Amino acid sequence: MKIVETKVVVLVIFVVLLALLGTYFTMIVPLMDESLYTPTKDARPYTKLELKGKQVYQREGCWYCHTQQVRNLLVETKRYGMGEEETFKRFGIRALVQAPPSQPGEYVYDKPHLLGTRRTGPDLARVGGKYDNSWHINHLRDPRSTSPGSIMPAYTWLFDKNGRPTEEAIALVAYLQKLGTNIKWREEGVALIKKMQGVPSPEETTTQTQEVGE
Ligand code: HEC
Repeated sequence: MKIVETKVVVLVIFVVLLALLGTYFTMIVPLMDESLYTPTKDARPYTKLELKGKQVYQREGCWYCHTQQVRNLLVETKRYGMGEEETFKRFGIRALVQAPPSQPGEYVYDKPHLLGTRRTGPDLARVGGKYDNSWHINHLRDPRSTSPGSIMPAYTWLFDKNGRPTEEAIALVAYLQKLGTNIKWREEGVALIKKMQGVPSPEETTTQTQEVGE
């Protein structure tokens, strides 16, 4: 390859070609992956309220401390799934339902997505439906009241003088309850376990969505 090293023009062409090749395989080819643009079966766009909540989430920098991506690791799918106590309380069976790893199709309505990079707090990708609305309200007002020893800051400015949640707090909770529901993994996981145990499942699975302020 002496010619590349001695002739500047050949060298430049060689470098440009190499850069184009690299761009093609690391950017263009992945962008052609249709799963990036195909919503998951249960994905739906945000409601107005949820979208407002997402803006509050962005503005308050919740994403400095919280990621929104469950990785394909057993420790994560177990940790962010439903434990025995939760399945028993809500569905009447004792079983661990693992959280599915995040899929590209869940993020198609996220502009910008808030995958995050740091986990000072737990991942929130599957937090929707984990707690009820009042838990979130209490937690935002005073994290130590629900999670003793928590280092999460209190978002007192999302509450009025009497401690009642403002519209922003209500919107934020609606957004949190939406997270992770683009896959109905709680209902599907429980239905699957019941099927394996031979428990007859009701015709329609009850959905556990809690709408705030509507
Ligand atoms: C300084 C880092 C930090 C910031 C900023 C932060 N959090 Fe947290 N968050 C934590 C920590 C630590 C925990 C775990 C202890 C607890 O439950 O409070 C947590 C827990 C949570 C949980 C419960 C998760 C679970 O699965 O139990 C939710 C929901 C949550 N945060 C939402 C938010 C929202 C919404 C914001 C922005 C308004 C926010 N956090 C900002 C650190 C942070």
